[in-house]
Amino acid sequence: MRSCRLASLVRLSVVIGFIALLFLLYFCVILLSEEFQTRFEEDYDIPQVTPRSHVLCVIVPYRDRLEELTQFAPYMGSFLKSQNVEHIILVVNQTDSLRFNRASLINVGWNEADRLGCDYMVMNDVDLLPVNPEIPYGFPGIGTIRHITSPEYHPKYNYSKFIGGILMLTMADYKLLNGMSNKYWGWGLEDDEFYLRISESDLRLTRVSGLTTNRSNTFRHLHGPERKRDYSNSNDKVQRAFKRQRDRISGLKDVSYKIATRRAMNIQNITFQVIDVELNCDISWTPYCKL
Ligand SMILES: *[C@@H]1O[C@H](CO)[C@@H](O)[C@H](O)[C@H]1NC(C)=O
Ligand SMILES: *[C@@H]1O[C@H](CO)[C@@H](O)[C@H](O)[C@H]1NC(C)=O
Ligand SMILES: *[C@@H]1O[C@H](CO)[C@@H](O)[C@H](O)[C@H]1NC(C)=O
Ligand SMILES: *[C@@H]1O[C@H](CO)[C@@H](O)[C@H](O)[C@H]1NC(C)=O
Repeated sequence: MRSCRLASLVRLSVVIGFIALLFLLYFCVILLSEEFQTRFEEDYDIPQVTPRSHVLCVIVPYRDRLEELTQFAPYMGSFLKSQNVEHIILVVNQTDSLRFNRASLINVGWNEADRLGCDYMVMNDVDLLPVNPEIPYGFPGIGTIRHITSPEYHPKYNYSKFIGGILMLTMADYKLLNGMSNKYWGWGLEDDEFYLRISESDLRLTRVSGLTTNRSNTFRHLHGPERKRDYSNSNDKVQRAFKRQRDRISGLKDVSYKIATRRAMNIQNITFQVIDVELNCDISWTPYCKL
C-alpha cells in the first residue's frame, strides 16, 4: 500500500517535472524566435531606411522652336548631369491651332510628370539656359518655391513680383496651388496670376541669390531665327482687363486637352520626352483663344 502511494508520488513529480520542462522549452523557443524575428526585420529594413532619391521633371512649354530646342535639350541634360540631378526633360508641344497657352501646357506637363514619378518640377522656357553651374537644381523642399531666374539675375525682367522664366517647386505644392490659370492665351501674364496664387498660400517663395555672377552672365537667352511670337495678349483689351487678378476658376484640375503622342527624342546623345498636346478651348469662356 505504502510503496504504491510512493510510486504514484514519484510518477506525479515526474509528470510535473516534465510539464515544467515543456514550459521552459516553450519559452526558450519564443525568446529565440523573437530575437530571430527582430534580427530579420532589421536586416529587411535596411533598404527601406535609405532615403528615396528625388527625381526632377523639367517641364518645357513648347511650340515651333526647334533651333532653340536643339540647343536647349543637350545643354540642360548635361548641366543637370554635372549636378548629379536625376531628371526627365518633358517637352510639352502644343499642336492645335489655338494661341499659345504656356500655363495650360505646364498643367499638362504636371500630369505627365506625375505619371513618370517625378517628385519635383521646374518650368523652364526653351530659350533660357542656366549658365552658372552654382545655380541650384536640387530638391527645394516641401513648401518652398525656388525662383531660379530671380529679378537679380534675369537678363530682362527685374520687377519685384516677377516669377517668370525658371521656377521650381515640388509636385505636391504645384497641386496644392491647383496649378496655373488656363485663361491666358498668347505670351505673358499667366505668371503674374501664378504669383497671386503663391502669395495667398502658405508656401514660401525664395529667390536664388548669392551667386558669383550677375545679370549679364548668369543665364543665356537663346535667339532662334526671328519668328513672331504672339505677344498680343498684353495689348489684348479683354485679357488686360483681368491682368493681375486671381483666377479662382481654372487650373490644374480642369485643364482640357488630348494627347496625340508621347515619344522620345535624342539630340547629341541626350534623350528627352516629347508630348504632343492638343489643347481645348471653351469659346464661351475665353473667346480670344483663337489665332
Ligand atoms: C510638335 O508638333 C508639331 C505638329 O504635330 C510637329 O510638326 C513638330 O515636329 C513637333 N515638335 C517636336 C519638337 O517634335
Ligand atoms: C532693374 O534693372 C534696371 C536696368 O535694366 C535698373 O535700372 C533697375 O534699378 C533694376 N531694378 C531692380 C529692382 O533691380
Ligand atoms: C558681370 O560680371 C562680369 C564678369 O565678372 C563683369 O565683366 C561685368 O562687368 C559684370 N556686369 C555688371 C553689370 O556688373
Ligand atoms: C551616350 O550616352 C550613354 C548613356 O548616357 C553613354 O553610356 C554613352 O557613352 C554616350 N555616348 C557618347 C558617344 O557620348
